[in-house]
Amino acid sequence: MVSDPGDGAGRAPLQGRRVVVTGADGFIGSHLAQRLLAEGCEVTALCLYTSDGTHGWLDALGEDERAAMDLRLGDVRDPGFVRDLVDGCDLVLHLAALIAIPYSYLAPRSFVETNVLGTQNVLEAVRATGARMINTSTSEVYGTPDEVPITEAHPLKGQSPYSASKIAADMLCEAYARSFEVEVATLRPFNTFGPRQSLRAVIPTVLAQLLAGTSRLHLGSLSPRRDFTFVDDTVEGFVRAATVGLEPGEVVQLGTGTSVSIGELVDVCQRVVGVEAEVTTDEERVRPAASEVEVLRSDPTRASERLGWQPRVSLEDGLAATAAWLRERELSATTATRYHR
Ligand SMILES: NC(=O)c1ccc[n+]([C@@H]2O[C@H](COP(=O)([O-])OP(=O)(O)OC[C@H]3O[C@@H](n4cnc5c(N)ncnc54)[C@H](O)[C@@H]3O)[C@@H](O)[C@H]2O)c1
Repeated sequence: MVSDPGDGAGRAPLQGRRVVVTGADGFIGSHLAQRLLAEGCEVTALCLYTSDGTHGWLDALGEDERAAMDLRLGDVRDPGFVRDLVDGCDLVLHLAALIAIPYSYLAPRSFVETNVLGTQNVLEAVRATGARMINTSTSEVYGTPDEVPITEAHPLKGQSPYSASKIAADMLCEAYARSFEVEVATLRPFNTFGPRQSLRAVIPTVLAQLLAGTSRLHLGSLSPRRDFTFVDDTVEGFVRAATVGLEPGEVVQLGTGTSVSIGELVDVCQRVVGVEAEVTTDEERVRPAASEVEVLRSDPTRASERLGWQPRVSLEDGLAATAAWLRERELSATTATRYHR
């Protein structure tokens, strides 16, 4: 049983736990690292090494928070580095990945190296040390589903190199749980949105263009339907998975159980921001036809039963919070146009 029930003495269950977050420099990982710190964890935050020595979104935190974390620069593709990183920790929350589907068409091998071999490096490290691990999957592993809502039992389809790499990583986790009794479970978020998300993702793209006062929105296809979860809810799912018992090899989806089309989403964004614009389909943003995933909608039953998890933030409130964050960043029209692709 992958469980962490706390010490029964009224301490928060995560208090004092030594937790490694990979991908802590990124959108979801940075929110998660902050939340774990607030829960009293000793957080080791892995940020991808780049020559400028920056720590992604963790550089936007206050001095106190940054000082309270053990910030590490490195790369999940390096097995020796990952083994040292994991040494002495109780739990690894593995979020590091290449995530951009369009880039996965251009450089598929790099997705295998980071998402598949990187995950195997983490699995080997926790196998050696006995630490628990939560792997991060994605709803993209289902491809265009046979039926909705999608349950965890739905077949997996490699519809893009990104989804194929995440399927391989998920299967390695399942295999390591079965073969080596590694205590690894997988969380499978559906689309997550909120402050710090890349402006290449659809919600920041729409909001940034609207806030920049554009009269014409440049988007990809408007028909695909997605199940959007606000980042605080996704993070809550990780915290619950870290504190509630999950079986080795178990998979739990994090999604709201509702979906909106991109066209409908644009309407809600326009209402939230109070700006209207015409929509133009940008061919560069449209996926190859056989690679497009038309609908993703989660059946949230298992998350509710196994984690007691339910999303709390409505689409409208999450969009308002994301728009407020974008406003704070005072995006210029030029920047928004540069990022719309
Ligand atoms: N954002 C979503 O809607 C969504 C939905 C489902 C699943 N996910 C999954 O959640 C995780 C986090 O995604 P995100 O949206 O925060 O993306 P993100 O790109 O903001 O974060 C991923 C982080 O991984 C780091 N990284 C990349 N290659 C690395 C390497 N070789 N070594 C170490 N670090 C490396 C990057 O620097 C980046 O900060 C990913 O595993 C992704 O597949 C995201």
